[in-house]
Amino acid sequence: MPYYERKQEPMGVEALPRTIWWELDEQSGQAAVCLIDQTRLPLLKQVIRCTKVDQVCDAITTLAVRGAPALGVSAGLALALWALNESAEPDVESFLAALDRVTDKVANARPTAVNLSWGARRANRHAHEMAASGAGVGALKMGLVDLAKQMIDEDEAINRRIGENGVSVLSENSQVLTHCNAGSLATAYYGTALGVIYSGFAAGRVSHVWVDETRPVNQGGRLTAWELIQAGVPSTLICDNMSASLMRAGQVDAVVVGADRICANGDTANKIGTYGVAVLAHEHHVPFYIAAPLSTIDPTLASGDQIVIEQRNPREVEGFDISATLDPSSPVEKRAVDWLTQEGPMDFTLKGGHKMRISRTDDGYQLDGWFKKTPTGVKVYNPAFDVTPARYIAGIITEAGVARRGADGVYHLEHAHDQGFDPTKA
Ligand code: MRU
Repeated sequence: MPYYERKQEPMGVEALPRTIWWELDEQSGQAAVCLIDQTRLPLLKQVIRCTKVDQVCDAITTLAVRGAPALGVSAGLALALWALNESAEPDVESFLAALDRVTDKVANARPTAVNLSWGARRANRHAHEMAASGAGVGALKMGLVDLAKQMIDEDEAINRRIGENGVSVLSENSQVLTHCNAGSLATAYYGTALGVIYSGFAAGRVSHVWVDETRPVNQGGRLTAWELIQAGVPSTLICDNMSASLMRAGQVDAVVVGADRICANGDTANKIGTYGVAVLAHEHHVPFYIAAPLSTIDPTLASGDQIVIEQRNPREVEGFDISATLDPSSPVEKRAVDWLTQEGPMDFTLKGGHKMRISRTDDGYQLDGWFKKTPTGVKVYNPAFDVTPARYIAGIITEAGVARRGADGVYHLEHAHDQGFDPTKA
């Protein structure tokens, strides 16, 4: 059974798959960064095996791997992958110069989640520090690999601490609403906002979760809903425009979401739609919490106005992607699919800009499509994130404790990356 599928384990958090991992072929010395393809979950459970740094960058931009902490870990792994599989620089100086270029490329693959550049810069700094202490090229490569693996383990440990710390903000049997996917899939393992929900469920503080669908690409409807079912946490999927009436009806006791970048004053970028949920929560006196590692805090930005918001492809709004396993139910159907795919993947020409492909896989056939549901020529606005002002955030749950607003109504996170930072005293 592959590493990422652990089907025999009992229903519960432990049934969740790993998001991203490192594989090394001892014989060839070639490494791979493996990740669950989140563009196809939950309809298909497929693993992407990257052997080049550009493939990891593609996985990041297409959202095959996504979520701020998972992006941080991916960055560390991407640099290690480049070092082991691609770098051919003979000396330390040229190795570090090439590493700097790769670091910039990885760090800039997506702009909003600060963890991506944080992970890339951390790995880069590690190599520079090793070189300053006299390490040669071989040692630098192994140092990058060791650090990347350490980042996976650290991320899980941090998320489990976030989960434990978050339990205290929830009252017994709470109904919690969440937006997007800040779950195990968005991290190396366990999740931030969903980490709080998993720990809260185990402690009897969470009875039920409302899952925002999260348009346009449905990280809530596809990923969070799937995770909660795997983990055995009772949940109900809603469209993004349904939370107002649920809050008014007293059906939501708390909101817990993740973050992509938190400014020094607590203004927080997260998936588009989060700001609206925060305003609704404020209106209905529902506490609204952010759950995130300290690495998501960007102390260099004073306020949310300075956050760069990623604009994504209009096609995410114009239509929807669909992937499915084809399961021929008769010999005729099977012959037809066999015939269609005999010379490779079969692309169909559809009127109106839709796309459809049938291809063979290791164990059958697969259908991938993109179907348009908007008129040709429509103008689209598609920002991936919005910024929730600090005044709407009741607390920021981190691995070091829960930060609260100061008397001046904002957070004071300027020293979040200093050794021994205590968010409860900030
Ligand atoms: O575009 P995505 O799917 O990467 O956006 C993810 C989010 O907005 C998450 O809420 C955030 O990264 C926190 S993940 C723990």
